[in-house]
Amino acid sequence: MAETGHPASPPRFEILAISGSLRRASINSAVLRAAAQAAAWDGLRVALADSVRSLPPFDPDRDTEPPASARRFRKACEDAAGVLLAVPEYTFGIPGAFKNALDWAVGSGSLYLKPITVLKVSPPGRGACVREGLSLALQAHGAHVVHCSVPVSRHDLDMHGEIDNARIVAELRTVVAELAERARTAAAA
Ligand SMILES: Cc1cc2nc3c(=O)[nH]c(=O)nc-3n(C[C@H](O)[C@H](O)[C@H](O)COP(=O)(O)O)c2cc1C
Repeated sequence: MAETGHPASPPRFEILAISGSLRRASINSAVLRAAAQAAAWDGLRVALADSVRSLPPFDPDRDTEPPASARRFRKACEDAAGVLLAVPEYTFGIPGAFKNALDWAVGSGSLYLKPITVLKVSPPGRGACVREGLSLALQAHGAHVVHCSVPVSRHDLDMHGEIDNARIVAELRTVVAELAERARTAAAA
């Protein structure tokens, strides 16, 4: 992450938040929107990735000359000081669209050594398979991964599909602050 060069200016730590769900009323996406808002109170910038939907199916033959959408996705990952993921479990694993995005990022090494927090929003006792799948996939990327759990149900959403639970928002604020701290430590190393 680029610093301003002025000792009095704090470095700009931007977190990239990526939802593993394409669903319009996605709980995972709502959680990331709430995390972005809460983090802003601490002066942290969380950018919401919108590129997962637009990526074509990963094709190793296009890895060296990827399409524009894949180049944008790779650069967004590269530029981020840290990455926050919220990914639902589909059929005991990672949703295809999100796994596709991860595959596009392999060739560029965009997630190598990247501080990543995987946020599980499913209720206790669920989501173990996607957690395991993400652990393995992100291990292949060489990312530095921390898992955390903030269970969210549809009862925590308001009529517009946004998080309406102060306790959850406070927990999300802490999650992003901890990720930013890891990113800061990684950048200083
Ligand atoms: C195709 C499909 C497969 C699913 N498979 C699982 C599963 O294996 N295990 C599980 O706990 N939930 C499963 N679910 C439930 C989703 O994980 C759950 O609805 C989640 O909240 C969806 O996330 P979203 O609200 O962000 O879209 C599945 C949902 C869909 C649509």
